[in-house]
Amino acid sequence: MMIKGFIFDLDGVLVDTAKYHYLAWKKLADEMGLHFNIRDNELLKGVSRERSFEIILELNGKEMSREEIQECCTRKNGFYVDFISRITPEEILPGAREFLTDARSKGIRTALGSASKNAGIILERTGLLPFFDAVIDGTKVSLAKPNPEVFLKGAEELKLLPEECVVFEDSMAGIVAAHNGGMKTVGVGNREVEGCCDAFIASFTEMTAPVIVKKVG
Ligand code: BG6
Ligand code: MG
Repeated sequence: MMIKGFIFDLDGVLVDTAKYHYLAWKKLADEMGLHFNIRDNELLKGVSRERSFEIILELNGKEMSREEIQECCTRKNGFYVDFISRITPEEILPGAREFLTDARSKGIRTALGSASKNAGIILERTGLLPFFDAVIDGTKVSLAKPNPEVFLKGAEELKLLPEECVVFEDSMAGIVAAHNGGMKTVGVGNREVEGCCDAFIASFTEMTAPVIVKKVG
């Protein structure tokens, strides 16, 4: 099947924001006396805000009411928004903008497929918005990765079949989601996913769009 579309995760793939999600959860966990470390954080990557906090509670053997969970998520988001309020194009990951430009110049359609409800503000502040034909973010989906909803909607908006799309992801949940949706995957930056994706790049400076198409197509 010909590859005609690229679907990109945002946090940790195009922008260096995965660290801010971690720092915000860490701050909340510390304040609440919950155990949480960088290894636990791998389980949260790509996962929705609510599901992330449920995982932290599970790891601590704790339960909370819906309202309390909501309240904690709101607090975490406050910390996170504080971090990203100062984000600039400097935090676009190496080679990402050039890779998007290259892909689009070769006629490949591009979509964002992110779980984040903060994706809009990040795209705007980094100037990445014009690089996408379609933007699917946490405000448009109800099922968290590893459910493929976010990527299937991306393919649909690009007017492509899932098998015509490649998903770029840094998270385990995202790689599984893409495979669940019938798409090829390129792991980006995070060695934890290297064994599970169709191709792996440490950064976008490593490969051009046509090489990726050839490799996974
Ligand atoms: C994903 C991140 O992109 O978005 C997760 O990898 C995050 O860490 C999720 O929980 C939801 O983001 P937000 O901004 O809506 O809390
Ligand atoms: Mg990510």
